[in-house]
Amino acid sequence: MSQKPDSIEADRGPLQRFLEDLHRKYQPLCEGHLANYIPELAKANPDWFAICVITVDGQVYTVGDFEQLFTIQSISKGFVYGLALEDHGRDAVLSKVGVEPTGDAFNAIVLDEHSKRPYNPMVNAGAIATTSLLKGVGPTERLNRMLDMFRCYVGHDVVIDISVFMSERTTGFRNRAMAYLMRNFGMIDERIDEALDLYFQQCSLMVDCRDLAVMAATLANRGINPITQERAVQPCYVRDILTVMYSCGMYNFAGEWAYKVGLPAKSGVCGGIIAVVPNQMGIGVFSPLLDGRGNSVRGVRVCEDLSTRLGLHLFDCQTSLLNLTS
Ligand code: DON
Repeated sequence: MSQKPDSIEADRGPLQRFLEDLHRKYQPLCEGHLANYIPELAKANPDWFAICVITVDGQVYTVGDFEQLFTIQSISKGFVYGLALEDHGRDAVLSKVGVEPTGDAFNAIVLDEHSKRPYNPMVNAGAIATTSLLKGVGPTERLNRMLDMFRCYVGHDVVIDISVFMSERTTGFRNRAMAYLMRNFGMIDERIDEALDLYFQQCSLMVDCRDLAVMAATLANRGINPITQERAVQPCYVRDILTVMYSCGMYNFAGEWAYKVGLPAKSGVCGGIIAVVPNQMGIGVFSPLLDGRGNSVRGVRVCEDLSTRLGLHLFDCQTSLLNLTS
């Protein structure tokens, strides 16, 4: 078993102070609701709030409840998409899962009218189809390949929250309906229950906010974990993962997010958000109060503020307003 590496303590410089200011500013924001579609998620503390930034040269900046564990949920989707691309290549994956934003909720039961593909790998239907593509003989080998991929991203072994997994599995009728619909159109193979179990398991992986930031930083660093220097994904697929995160990662808020924040990102119903600043840094935010689209309320506000104050929007042609990491 590999161990969690110790944090590389960054000097308490301007970026650390900036993150602390942001944390103080948004802690009083108590809008939103906890995910409650299964009892385990409704037990979260609405006050939990953490921000973490990790640069591509391995500097770690943390504030708040950054070691609080929660389940990764939909943030897993982009990473599993990367593994499916490695397993089959771009064209084969594209024949089963599209790359179009939907404008619909993440759990909408909708497939492309002509191709019958799910719209993109970030919504539930597309994520189930992506997961169904993972190679391996039987459920154990497929799960182990997926866990090993996540281990490379976070830099330590990852475990599944069994009670969340069991609840997802026993209540996930909507996901099951989507899987059967996709089987009807030949978008997933006959191992329907195996694919669904694997999908529920990926959603139930336990992470903390620091893990989110290192996963984002790994994507920012062309697929190499900046703390362990281990490669998590082939560099040619980082572009594909970031593209769908950019256009679809925040569901039916993706357009406004792209407009205001301008970074590839992904959210999950436990309140995590990752955002990637290519070649610079990964951002993780965790706060379980959600807005109506299933995105963390504090998480969205922190990322908007961070992007504006640091000039991180990808299409911002002005130089950074502040250079806080130097
Ligand atoms: O499939 C589901 O319903 C959940 N396990 C994952 C949902 C999720 O995180 C959607 N995002 N905000």
